[in-house]
Amino acid sequence: MTERRILITAALPYANGPIHLGHLVEYIQTDIWVRFQRLRGNQCLFVCADDTHGTAIMISAQRHGITEEEWIERISQEHQHDFAGFGISFDHYGSTNSPENRELCGEFWSALSSAGLIVVKEVEQLFDPEKEIFLADRFVKGTCPKCQAADQYGDNCDKCGATYTPAELIDPFSTLSGATPVLRKSTHHFVRLEALHDFLNEWTQSGDHLQSEVANYLKGHFLHEPLRDWDVSRPAPYFGFEIPDQPGNYWYVWFDAPIGYIASTAQWCRQHGENLESWWKNPETEIHHFIGKDITYFHTLFWPGMLKSAGFNLPSKVHIHGFLTVNGEKMSKSKGTFVKASTYLEHLDPQYLRYFYASKLGPRLDDIDLNLDEFASKVNSDLVGKVVNLASRTAKFVQSTGLSTEYPDDQGLFAQGAAAGDEIAAAYEACDYNRAVRLIIELADRANPFVEQAEPWKLRKDPEQADRLQDVCTIALNLFRQVVVYLSPLLPRLAEQTSELFGTPIEHWDDAQTPLTGQGVNKFKHMLKRIEQKDIEAMVEESKNEIESENDTETTNTPWSDSDQPLQDEPLAETCTIDDFAKVDLRVARVIEAEHVPEANKLLKLTLSLGGNERRQVFAGIKKAYEPEKLVGRLVVMVANLQPRKMRFGLSEGMITASGPGGADVFLLSPDSGAVPGQRVH
Ligand code: MSP
Ligand code: ZN
Repeated sequence: MTERRILITAALPYANGPIHLGHLVEYIQTDIWVRFQRLRGNQCLFVCADDTHGTAIMISAQRHGITEEEWIERISQEHQHDFAGFGISFDHYGSTNSPENRELCGEFWSALSSAGLIVVKEVEQLFDPEKEIFLADRFVKGTCPKCQAADQYGDNCDKCGATYTPAELIDPFSTLSGATPVLRKSTHHFVRLEALHDFLNEWTQSGDHLQSEVANYLKGHFLHEPLRDWDVSRPAPYFGFEIPDQPGNYWYVWFDAPIGYIASTAQWCRQHGENLESWWKNPETEIHHFIGKDITYFHTLFWPGMLKSAGFNLPSKVHIHGFLTVNGEKMSKSKGTFVKASTYLEHLDPQYLRYFYASKLGPRLDDIDLNLDEFASKVNSDLVGKVVNLASRTAKFVQSTGLSTEYPDDQGLFAQGAAAGDEIAAAYEACDYNRAVRLIIELADRANPFVEQAEPWKLRKDPEQADRLQDVCTIALNLFRQVVVYLSPLLPRLAEQTSELFGTPIEHWDDAQTPLTGQGVNKFKHMLKRIEQKDIEAMVEESKNEIESENDTETTNTPWSDSDQPLQDEPLAETCTIDDFAKVDLRVARVIEAEHVPEANKLLKLTLSLGGNERRQVFAGIKKAYEPEKLVGRLVVMVANLQPRKMRFGLSEGMITASGPGGADVFLLSPDSGAVPGQRVH
């Protein structure tokens, strides 16, 4: 078979939050496929990048008080660290905010423009007058126009499932500022996708490029009617690339994101002295995209349309997977099942998850469930109990002698395993990892009874059985190694450890075809330990605890991400009764005079009115925060029954209420308008 030339991508993760176990379904699925192809001797290039543009990223950076560039750099480091921890073997990890990407976007733009595929239209969109920003649907909330449920997002209702435009919401508000959005017109640029209808029909329905359920879905939902124009620009302010011939307009994040696949390849090519066209404009190169089902539309309609228009290779295949549930439900922060990649890695070996996901992944789009009990029992019984056990029970007995010089009679076990190679390879190729795992574990299931019946631990006690012992261990270890070769796309670390044990690297799929003989065996080092229930529990606990501190990376729910510092500085007081509280007589008061106290550098002298002729003189430590003239006339809240206290400058007959640590950071309380002096605060 001639070597294939394959470019593989996984979706570019958004640079606005951490990698979690849901994302990992995809990156593990893709990495397994890549490692499998490499092991087969195919030439592979595995590229990815952070997806860095758009409003959400602007907002996240703003909230953290840093620039967008600083924000995406920080996230990129975190993402790459997490991926490395799970053994995701990218050849290159780029960023969509790169000069290569800007240039390629220009190339696509020119191609689309000169093909007459760009049209300009006025669009009316909700605009946040306070933040001065156009609001994407997810940044608008309000009351559902259908069922009146409050607090619903701008595009659909959680309660009744209705879909609508944000402009139809009742009492809409911006989740960024709370302000009421206004409708504002601006110019947008659209791609006339309908002009590519015939091409897309053919490409999606050819049977080669998409899973059949995806092809059917596209036909039933989009291709049966004229395709809608696709809005690919956004007016300023926007974090992204400004369109060269359209100042003040930016390419929409979904325009430049997939082009990021090519840009990342371009960066790799530059670093390795290769030619981009040999990957992206070369019929000899296969392009394989791996994505989740939520982004099907972009990768199966727009993207092929863009590639076609700009003269790049079309994908050979878009492989689409389902979504992750944990214990049968959506990942949940409060249940601790929304687990970040970095949290997982603090508690568990990444190979466990790689193995478990593989055992669940098939060629279809079904969602996959991570049941934590099943996870532990499957890993323990298969990997530790059936695979590693083959080596851990036998390697030590041949450390001094090495393997037999000729491969002994094993009743056909190794030959059966070798013969299974093609079927296992076909399962990997088809992304049917579940089947591959089943076939491989069947081999281990046949090898284990052989070891149990041969009882090497008994043979070693009888010097006359030394040859037999060496033969039995040679067989067991070769069956072990054969299984590890087949599992190596899933378990790269175990493959390395096995390579070290025999001093012979596992480099090729065909290493499973020939047994090792007549060579030494190194000291057996511990390979994979059992999953302990307590480690899973600790991971879940920690994930629960992360909820509070994580709010600031969430861009969806509330625009407020208040720090916990004040409470940490001053923890909540002990409970008191309502009667305790009632002892403090808080009153609304008006400041009628305010003056400096020359001898005191913190104090202002205030005269407060409680209405009528009731006056109180109060000394307040607010000089650094307030100018006296500005206080006169305003309402404050005072403690009216505080025991008067004689001070150097005169009598203080109460106290005004304020928050803040002191100095310039003091904030007086004031009642809402309508309150009048003398009213009690309850
Ligand atoms: N930035 C876009 C992709 C642009 S590709 C040109 C994006 N990013 S994402 O971070 O939201 O998701 C990255 C990938 O992870 C997507 O393919 C998505 O389907 C997948 N997953 C995210 N959450 C997932 C689960 N809970 N389960 C399985 N896959 C999930 O989309
Ligand atoms: Zn509703």
